[in-house]
Amino acid sequence: MAQSQSQSQSQSQSNQISIEKYRDKAAGYDASAEFTMPLRRRTVALLQLQPGQTVLDVGAGTGLSYPLLRDGVGPTGRVLAFEQSPEMFEVARLRVQREGWTDVWHINQAAETVVLPQPADAVLFNYTHDICRTPLAVDNLMRQVRPGARVAMAGIKFFPWWAGPLNLLAWLKNRPYNARPADLWQPWSLVAAYCDDFRWSGTQWGMGYIASGTRKADPQR
Ligand SMILES: C[S@@+](CC[C@H](N)C(=O)[O-])C[C@H]1O[C@@H](n2cnc3c(N)ncnc32)[C@H](O)[C@@H]1O
Repeated sequence: MAQSQSQSQSQSQSNQISIEKYRDKAAGYDASAEFTMPLRRRTVALLQLQPGQTVLDVGAGTGLSYPLLRDGVGPTGRVLAFEQSPEMFEVARLRVQREGWTDVWHINQAAETVVLPQPADAVLFNYTHDICRTPLAVDNLMRQVRPGARVAMAGIKFFPWWAGPLNLLAWLKNRPYNARPADLWQPWSLVAAYCDDFRWSGTQWGMGYIASGTRKADPQR
């Protein structure tokens, strides 16, 4: 996907805003995300992982999903992951080193440019709003995912329009973590365009969503 110079400048500004937002969150991230574990398990379950598969963890943060993904693909499978924040990635790197996991390939890189060592059979977008709202990032990733691959997502969305004022809450909750806190009506839409059988449902009383689909067969969409 070709980008003009001004598009690529504003893209790298968004990346930088996100990197700054996560600079001081890395150390406390795992504790703050503890309450998300049940939803994380549900989202990973939607991937229907099989032994021997290669699964991609998009914007993997501190690697909190690695144990669930490793369990899903078993000893013959592989976890691929990337994360652009140096501080978040360092926590993930130390986790992998501490556990001695040789079946995790991960890299400190952005979704817009990352090149995977092999195509993925399944892909997890867990609370990766900025990536999901960036066409260049979604395109780069979905081109490296096999046709027929399971895709699962979870994140924050706006409440339905009739719950209007409550959306201030969604915006406020999203703002500390994301460069595009207002783009919450259909956060899954760019990913859904690459999928067949895409389905979403509300979580957290309407302020969250969980979704899944299957990567379309046509690599051009
Ligand atoms: C809310 S955290 C979620 C982390 C992880 N997916 C999880 O479930 O715990 C969002 C992560 O996306 C990363 N991120 C945001 N934009 C990115 C981009 N363009 N490329 C790679 N990572 C990005 C952030 O640095 C952050 O670690």
